Parts: sequence; C-alpha cells; structure tokens
Amino acid sequence: MCSLGETELLHTFKGIPFTTRSSPELLKSLDTFDAREDDVLLVSYPKSGTHWLAGVIAQLCNTQVTITSPIEFGDISRLEELDKLSSKRIIPTHLDYNMLPPNFKNKKCKMIYISRNPKDTAVSMFHYYRDNPNLPTVDTWTAFFDLFLKGNVVGGSWFDHFLSWEEHEEEKNILFLFYEDMKKDLPKVVKQITLFLSLNVSDNDIQDICKKCSFSEMKNDSEKENSDHSHTVCALTSNRKLIFRKGAVGDWKNYFTPKQNIRFQEIFNEKMKLSKM
Ligand code: A3P
Repeated sequence: MCSLGETELLHTFKGIPFTTRSSPELLKSLDTFDAREDDVLLVSYPKSGTHWLAGVIAQLCNTQVTITSPIEFGDISRLEELDKLSSKRIIPTHLDYNMLPPNFKNKKCKMIYISRNPKDTAVSMFHYYRDNPNLPTVDTWTAFFDLFLKGNVVGGSWFDHFLSWEEHEEEKNILFLFYEDMKKDLPKVVKQITLFLSLNVSDNDIQDICKKCSFSEMKNDSEKENSDHSHTVCALTSNRKLIFRKGAVGDWKNYFTPKQNIRFQEIFNEKMKLSKM
C-alpha cells in the first residue's frame, strides 16, 4: 500500500501521475515549447533503460551535445533554461506521445523510443519506488503489482504509453529500440543508432563504446568518487546506485507468482490486441 507520502510526492496531470518535481505550470506550458529541428528526444517509459541509451548517445556524440534532464522535470524556469542552451540538445522524456510538445512533431525532430518487457520494467520500478525517498513508499511487491497494472504509478499505464508511441513507429523520424535487443547484441543496436542519427562512427569505435556501456562499466563509473552525482537523466535521484541495480532480462521470474503472471498476461493480451509487439 502507498504511504501517506503519496499526496505530497505525486500529482496527476491529464490522468497521468507525475512526481511533484514536475510542476503543473511546467506541464501546462509544454504545449508551447519551442523545439529546434536538430533536437533529439530519448523517449521511454520509466525503468526501460533510459540511462543506458543516454550513456550510449553520450559516447557516440562526445562533447558536441548536451544531454538534459527530462523535459517534464522541474518548474516553469525549465523552458527558459533549455532555450538558453547553445549546443545541440538531446532531451530525455517519459511523456506519452499525446503529451509531447507539438513542436517536436511539427518539426519532425528525431526521437528514439526505448521499450522493455513490461514485466521486467515493473520489477525494476518496484525497486526504484522502494528505495527512492522521492517516490511514495510501497510495502510489498503484491501492492506494487496492482498499482502498476492500474497505471497508478509515475509514467501512468505502461500499455497506454507503449501504444501511444507504437502508433507512430513507421514515421521516419522515430526509431524504436528494445532493451532486450541491446542486451542481446549491443553493437548491432549502436550501429542502428549511428545510422539513424547520421553519425560516422567506425566499427572499432562502436566496439569500444559497447565495452564502456556494459552494465558493469556503467555501474562502476557511477560509483567512482569523481563521477558527477548531481546529474542523472531520470533526475528523480542523485543516487546512481538506484539506477544500476541488476541490468538483467527476465528478473520478473523471481517476483511474479504464477497467478500474477496469468493476470498480467490476460491484461497484456487484451490491451495489446491491436499491437504488433
Ligand atoms: P534493473 O532495475 O532491472 O536493474 P532507466 O534508466 O530507464 O531508469 O532504467 C533503469 C534500468 O536499466 C535498471 O534495470 C538498470 O539496471 C538498467 N540498466 C542501466 N544501465 C544498464 C546497462 N548498461 N546495461 C543493462 N541494463 C542497464
């Protein structure tokens, strides 16, 4: 069950729970956001591998870009702050497609959507909720499982989020990636990203980047004393230990009971009946 902290830590905007770190004024103003044609969006439902993708992009683009915190995070001054950035902007977001500032769509900005098996996403988010003081307390996996299925968590319903983006999968300015594919063959996915972003990177450099972006390397880096603890892409914590937890595929099997698995599968089949996934 959620503790009393929920009312102070979460609010709802257009039916989707946000943390109070995303001010209602900012969310209302996003519709007027002034996108630039060379902006690149990194889009994800929370806990789908956003930091991993951002890590890869940071290596690929080196110093010529600024990876910001999510566009929906902060107060109204955020818009001005982003406007002032002179370098090319790589902007993460957990917004669903319908809430995305229209300017990004009109200007056909490049967008990379990363998705992950929702069962693993749920387990990852459960730990994040449990260990992160900026999120409501959840006492048990069972309680969190219900919240997740109802979409009563930060980011809203996984199904609605995925479907809102999948509808636009064919658009040339949107690249769809899967966490599981990155685990299976990272160089292949990195190559795909370089082609999509028109970056000229050699196969040797791709191999190097993949080594630097392995789970163990990224986790170790985040624990080094001189790493920048104030910055995380997800911006809900400066404690990077909360981000690099296990980095595995299939961890859900350690949490879902057979009954929960059946219930999840039924809801998945119903909600995703029109999906190509
Ligand atoms: P787990 O909690 O299952 O370990 P996000 O960045 O969207 O918040 O997603 C966090 C999830 O991505 C965490 O999953 C984290 O461990 C995983 N992750 C981060 N970096 C990774 C990497 N280099 N390789 C594999 N998984 C990674």
